[in-house]
Amino acid sequence: MKRDTLYDEPRRTAAPFEFNRSVAAVFDDMIQRSVPLYAEILNREAQLIATHYQRGTRIYDLGCSTGNLGVYLCRNMGAQPFEMIAVDSAAPMLEICAGKLADAGAGGRVTLVHDDIGLVALENASVIVLNFTLQFLPLTSRDRLLARIFDALVPGGILLLAEKTIHADDDFNRLRQDCHHRFKQENGYSALAVAQKREALETVLIPESEDAHGQRISAAGFGCFDIWLKWFNFSAWIGRK
Ligand SMILES: C[S@@+](CC[C@H](N)C(=O)[O-])C[C@H]1O[C@@H](n2cnc3c(N)ncnc32)[C@H](O)[C@@H]1O
Repeated sequence: MKRDTLYDEPRRTAAPFEFNRSVAAVFDDMIQRSVPLYAEILNREAQLIATHYQRGTRIYDLGCSTGNLGVYLCRNMGAQPFEMIAVDSAAPMLEICAGKLADAGAGGRVTLVHDDIGLVALENASVIVLNFTLQFLPLTSRDRLLARIFDALVPGGILLLAEKTIHADDDFNRLRQDCHHRFKQENGYSALAVAQKREALETVLIPESEDAHGQRISAAGFGCFDIWLKWFNFSAWIGRK
């Protein structure tokens, strides 16, 4: 795994963050050192997928990046059949994803789709996963995507959503950010790297509160949903149709 040093050196200007080839090359190291409980989230989600998958339906991984969820799922499913559609708009991510899924023994069970998740067709799904990707969509297109996800799920199907979040109270918001920055520094990022990455993400990653997500999940049609994991400014939900 290549180490993420992208924001280590001083930059004159912080260009907006992009999922380009340089980011894809260090993505696995970046996400593990930046997202608390990342491995726990993916491992537990893979178990939830294995128990909720309905034969003859699909699993969607929207914003699949380098395919880590697919790798965890292959481990959980063993040789059992399943159909996963893994979608991402960044070609360099999908190139790495293809290699990792082949190594994990996915065989023909995972299809990679290079597309915008706001445009890709969603149908006949028993599981739809949206991990740390809704936060990169324009605010105006998020309600529509959640509604399309609900429509695409078969009865008993589940949504698995994970996001970075904010708190409406300024002090609690600062506390969340301070804990997250401390987490990143404990994982080897310098204060400069944390500050520069934060600036680059400012206009690109727009987090919302747990309440805003809950309202959207409910408005999309999910009568039953729960936050199954929370760590300061990171939350993961499960919703059932
Ligand atoms: C933070 S990463 C997601 C991490 C991944 N789900 C995981 O758990 O490892 C966000 C991903 O979403 C992709 N992405 C962002 N906006 C997208 C869009 N509108 N359509 C498709 N993919 C998108 C990016 O290319 C990137 O790979």
